[in-house]
Amino acid sequence: MPVGVNKIRNRGFAPGSIMSLIRIFQKHGVKLFVIFSLLGGIAYIFGADTKYQGYAPDQPIPFSHKIHAGELQIDCKYCHAGVEVSAHATVPDQGTCMKCHSVVGGDSANIQYLRQTYKQGVPIRWLKVHDLPDHVKFSHKPHITRGLDCVQCHGDVAKMDKVELTNKFTMGWCVDCHRQETTQSYKPGNNQTVKITECGTCHY
Ligand code: HEC
Ligand code: HEC
Ligand code: HEC
Ligand code: HEC
Ligand code: HEC
Repeated sequence: MPVGVNKIRNRGFAPGSIMSLIRIFQKHGVKLFVIFSLLGGIAYIFGADTKYQGYAPDQPIPFSHKIHAGELQIDCKYCHAGVEVSAHATVPDQGTCMKCHSVVGGDSANIQYLRQTYKQGVPIRWLKVHDLPDHVKFSHKPHITRGLDCVQCHGDVAKMDKVELTNKFTMGWCVDCHRQETTQSYKPGNNQTVKITECGTCHY
């Protein structure tokens, strides 16, 4: 029998009664609080997505992919130059925008703001839409080299006024595709592809 219950009984409380529960909380409240907080914290870490599907923050300037990548058909790589060659696709600085907006769109308050911050050399603080935790290794380069399209992971960005998380970007989501790629193995004898379901491929 647990020590706590024994003590309570010795003081004359029936073990099952509400009073004995209150007593236990009075005596062990802090400890119980700590234990439940820890359990809650662990449940949270295992249950939580980094960013939920559908996440679409407001940006400092309402930049529209629908206008630029959709209507104007500017190539994704014109602005996200890193995507083929490095881990990060990179978001362009105002210099890229100014190639057009030093001329185009001067009537708009947003473009005036863009020009002003460019002149002052103040970077625009775009909010990250996608943001994997630091313990995850992800690189665009091998995926793009292998012929995957932006749409497969990011959805049809060229139709979005505001970029939105269209997939879960959880471990399960990555691993599902890696498993499929491994079983399909349309590059026979490619050990590289077999390895992509191992923990060390995606974690430091
Ligand atoms: C004219 C420049 C430009 C073009 C062209 C462009 N983008 Fe972007 N992109 C941006 C800017 C600026 C941001 C940051 C603001 C935002 O999230 O809307 C961004 C953000 C993004 C993000 C979210 C980044 C994050 O924080 O997670 C994705 C994904 C993305 N772009 C994909 C694409 C794809 C796919 C295409 C082609 C269909 C494309 N972009 C074309 C400028 C551009
Ligand atoms: C295999 C899935 C996949 C494909 C294909 C893909 N991306 Fe991404 N992209 C991601 C993931 C995952 C992140 C988040 C990376 C992080 O948080 O470290 C991301 C982040 C981004 C970002 C935010 C900046 C950065 O690099 O972290 C931009 C911009 C972006 N992608 C653009 C593109 C464009 C443009 C293409 C197509 C040329 C593309 N992506 C293809 C999965 C993909
Ligand atoms: C290749 C040329 C080009 C580039 C590069 C470009 N834009 Fe544009 N942008 C345009 C054109 C054209 C329009 C439509 C202008 C109009 O309808 O008056 C536009 C419209 C806009 C608008 C809407 C203007 C309004 O009415 O408020 C914003 C905001 C904007 N761009 C921001 C950006 C930002 C931020 C960048 C850099 C990340 C960028 N643009 C890069 C050509 C470009
Ligand atoms: C739509 C399919 C798909 C999705 C989704 C996907 N991957 Fe991949 N990934 C691939 C393929 C295919 C390869 C093998 C590329 C090759 O042959 O080199 C790969 C390779 C990799 C590699 C190995 C790169 C190297 O240098 O060997 C890493 C790391 C990786 N992926 C991480 C991730 C992470 C993390 C996610 C989720 C955020 C993810 N991938 C989502 C298809 C995908
Ligand atoms: C294809 C890529 C990939 C592989 C393979 C992979 N992981 Fe992950 N893992 C991820 C991503 C992405 C996250 C972040 C998920 C999120 O933020 O929702 C993650 C998160 C985690 C977490 C943190 C808990 C969580 O839910 O955030 C642990 C622990 C973990 N992985 C362990 C493992 C172990 C053990 C293996 C091998 C059996 C493994 N991973 C294989 C991509 C991968």
